[in-house]
Amino acid sequence: MMLETVELSKSFRGKAVVDGVSLYLEQGESVGLIGPNGAGKSTIIKMISSLLPPSYGDVRLNGKSVIKQPQHIRKVLGVVPQEVALYGELSAYENLMFFGHIYKMRKKELEIKIQEVLEMVGLRERQKEIIKTFSGGMKRRINIAASLLHDPQIVIMDEPTVGIDPQSRNHILDTVRLLNHEKNITILYTSHYMEEVEQLCNRMYIMDHGKLIASGTKEELGRILSNEDTILLQLDAYNEALIEEFLAMKPVLQVEKTHQGLKLIVVKQSRMLGSIVQSAERHGVQLINMNVKTPSLEDVFLHLTGRTLRD
Ligand SMILES: Nc1ncnc2c1ncn2[C@@H]1O[C@H](COP(=O)(O)OP(=O)(O)OP(=O)(O)O)[C@@H](O)[C@H]1O
Ligand SMILES: [Mg+2]
Repeated sequence: MMLETVELSKSFRGKAVVDGVSLYLEQGESVGLIGPNGAGKSTIIKMISSLLPPSYGDVRLNGKSVIKQPQHIRKVLGVVPQEVALYGELSAYENLMFFGHIYKMRKKELEIKIQEVLEMVGLRERQKEIIKTFSGGMKRRINIAASLLHDPQIVIMDEPTVGIDPQSRNHILDTVRLLNHEKNITILYTSHYMEEVEQLCNRMYIMDHGKLIASGTKEELGRILSNEDTILLQLDAYNEALIEEFLAMKPVLQVEKTHQGLKLIVVKQSRMLGSIVQSAERHGVQLINMNVKTPSLEDVFLHLTGRTLRD
């Protein structure tokens, strides 16, 4: 085992925002941390990277507490923070120089490393341009480059793909794969895009309101809902009375509004398509399409929390 948190907790003014979180990353793993806005993901990352002292609990590297010796973890850890932290007036190259100096890297070594990390994020040709002319996605990629300068063994990324263009997003996902598969770097990847975590991570933790509520591989988490089906209804309109009627049906466990209609989570193989059609007709609602599928990890999240990952 390489990095772990033990009962990690943080309270602000008496309110617990991270509550007894125990998670671990094994050497070479790529692990996802999933949770909605305000779940406590960034706070956990700040505590792991020793930017914020825990109220309770511990962070351990190879079994040794690093709370009091942050230099041990800083040496092996690269963190890509949620907020872009770059100097707008400086070029990409100058920003990386600046970060390299913080890590006390030697000039020559740093020069080589800067070209290597710029190549990795695909921005080597743009290095002389000043950061404020970069797109959000390009800035994020420079942030990733900065986190890699000191050859970290573990890289933590805090929602690196939120609000950026698809090209940068794909580039970032490729970089994460490269780091993990080819450089054998251990990854903790935070997101509220379940499909990203499914693609990138071999294991994931799901959290809500400061607590871990589930963990495991995609298959293990999928099994939580192995007794359920999802029925997607595309409707021309719907009303609360129809939702009430669906919820009153015995096999229906949950009803969620989607932009095309409704999503029902029902007991597996409950043979209820007929009654769904009848209900829609009774309420004067036009049923445009109906689709039964096995639940996704998004549905697992809905099941565990009663909420969707993105509202
Ligand atoms: N310095 C602080 N003082 C008071 N409350 C804080 C502070 N930092 C975070 N919080 C609160 O802690 C909770 C968790 O915040 P955190 O940033 O860890 O969530 P998150 O999971 O990263 O969310 P997001 O997906 O929006 O980034 C939030 O309710 C937030 O308001
Ligand atoms: Mg956050």
